[in-house]
Amino acid sequence: MTSTAPAGPRHVAIIMDGNGRWARRKGLPRLRGHEAGAESISAALRACRDLGIQYLTLYAFSVENWVRPKAEVAGLMALLRRFLRAREKELHANRTRLRAIGRIGDLPAPARKELQRVMDSTAHFTERHLVLALSYGGRAEIADAARRIAARAKAGEIDPASVDEATIAAHLYAPDIPDPDLMIRTSGEIRLSNFLLWQLSYAEFYFTPTLWPDFREADLAAAVEEYRRRHRRFGDIG
Ligand code: FPP
Repeated sequence: MTSTAPAGPRHVAIIMDGNGRWARRKGLPRLRGHEAGAESISAALRACRDLGIQYLTLYAFSVENWVRPKAEVAGLMALLRRFLRAREKELHANRTRLRAIGRIGDLPAPARKELQRVMDSTAHFTERHLVLALSYGGRAEIADAARRIAARAKAGEIDPASVDEATIAAHLYAPDIPDPDLMIRTSGEIRLSNFLLWQLSYAEFYFTPTLWPDFREADLAAAVEEYRRRHRRFGDIG
């Protein structure tokens, strides 16, 4: 493969970290940080539209986040519903399809229903995609794929000897979505935290100390500018 000068990115994935610290620094309850973080999602969507980014995947709630205090989990689920209701018009206006990846069945019924409703009402859009990772874990996703492959092999639908990378990729939560080109993590943490383990194999990583509630269009533009400066080689020399 020849080395590629990146024009994109086509797909950006973000670990929206630092809501709690943002709130603490302001002497506010943690949930206020998450609320401010929800505003940053709108800014990121606007930036994606302006920068020609087709896919935006956001780590909104990890499979590990269920251990947080009950009130914070309930607050986040209520916020998810409010976010979906408040942003539905914007998604339509920007012809953006909403998708979800993760163990969606774990979500409380009201949040799940709202999510399904907005996913259905935007399902016909193809230009732009907002993907929310909810009750998501990269290892859980690969384990879920392995379980489904094993069940299909047992049913005689798949020959175990034929299982390869393409088989696994085809059994992930959203196999039709291209892998992210760029992964951004806010708040200064330099970790992947079980996010898109399979899909980020060749992504460029960008870490910024900015806390997620402070993240705005210019921050995403700066990350994209840095991405475009990098030289992507996909394992080749270059
Ligand atoms: C990480 O910050 C953020 C989360 C666990 C939740 C992300 C949620 C939002 C951005 C709000 C929008 C929500 C939905 C559901 C659409 P943290 O709480 O770990 O921050 P800290 O590390 O500073 O404590």
